[in-house]
Amino acid sequence: MNETSMDAALPVDPTGINAVAWAEGRLDLLDQRRLPQDVRRVVCEDVDAVILCIRDMVVRGAPAIGVSAAYGAVLAARERLRRDGTNWRAGFQQDLERLRQARPTAVNLGWAVDRMLATAARAGDAPEAELLAEARRIHAQDIAMNQAMARFGADLVTEPGTVITHCNAGALATGGLGTALGVIREAFRRGRVTRVWVDETRPWLQGARLTAWELAREGIPATVITDSAAAQLMRRDPPTWAIVGADRVAANGDVVNKIGTYSLAVAARHHGVRFMVVAPSSTLDAATPDGDAVPIEQRDPEELWRAAGGRPEGAAAANPSFDVTPAGLVDALVTEKGVAAPPGPDSVARLLAS
Ligand code: MRU
Repeated sequence: MNETSMDAALPVDPTGINAVAWAEGRLDLLDQRRLPQDVRRVVCEDVDAVILCIRDMVVRGAPAIGVSAAYGAVLAARERLRRDGTNWRAGFQQDLERLRQARPTAVNLGWAVDRMLATAARAGDAPEAELLAEARRIHAQDIAMNQAMARFGADLVTEPGTVITHCNAGALATGGLGTALGVIREAFRRGRVTRVWVDETRPWLQGARLTAWELAREGIPATVITDSAAAQLMRRDPPTWAIVGADRVAANGDVVNKIGTYSLAVAARHHGVRFMVVAPSSTLDAATPDGDAVPIEQRDPEELWRAAGGRPEGAAAANPSFDVTPAGLVDALVTEKGVAAPPGPDSVARLLAS
């Protein structure tokens, strides 16, 4: 494979975090289970390792798992070609279907898998270089979309003040820069963000561990609060905007995102705090009519017991990982193609068509 000829398309994360990277012919991931204590990387040599890393949240965040799956498809093709020669296609398709199933809620995963399947369908029997070029395009496009959204979103933050965010929609959750955190980074650069309130985001603590780490390393003032402190904060000292990412935006504008987003949006509307969702067009899903049609991942209750420090004998727990925020609670949906304010069936269709 001629890697040098594709150097022009090399994706560059402007933050330098590089949560997802392709290095020496392998997928190289920053292990998000260990942050902030340890900054360690996990190298995936085959598609099974990629599937495991997505399931176990070594890599997480809708766009980041889409980019990882694209590189995973390159590894799948390489292995199938080695094992099955010119009969590589059937096994490759099975591998990509397994990749698609690794996590159910984020639509970016299926979107990236479909792009890689389409590339494979066009390729001959030496598809590796074409697949790698497509994976790099997906990665570079994700960063470019985040850069465009950062500008559109920051234009909406017109006066200086605090903002609040939920989960981690930063460089760690994407190919680079971030969606919600891309907007926050750009608004901070323009002098419009004095402090970021960060929901800790129970039970996996994406806010307390990941968002706080990303903001601290850039010197952006941030304060972590419990998820349940957000409403009281809005009552006493309202932020200018709540700014979050999304795992999937349905055709009617409903937003599916990390559990706790819905209650943040309800509290925001009650207190007159504007609510911004930042998501690339790869997160918009025209095939899903509304949020209730989106499969909500139920994760192992053990994550909750770990956060609680133990499980009382005989106690049960449920751990839904995402929730649905009705479109009516969203003031602005920011995509790389423009802003839907508010989002709804017509504005989402217009964005998808543009
Ligand atoms: O379970 P996670 O950590 O993968 O959930 C991530 C989120 O909910 C993010 O807000 C979403 O994927 C948008 S990331 C740009």
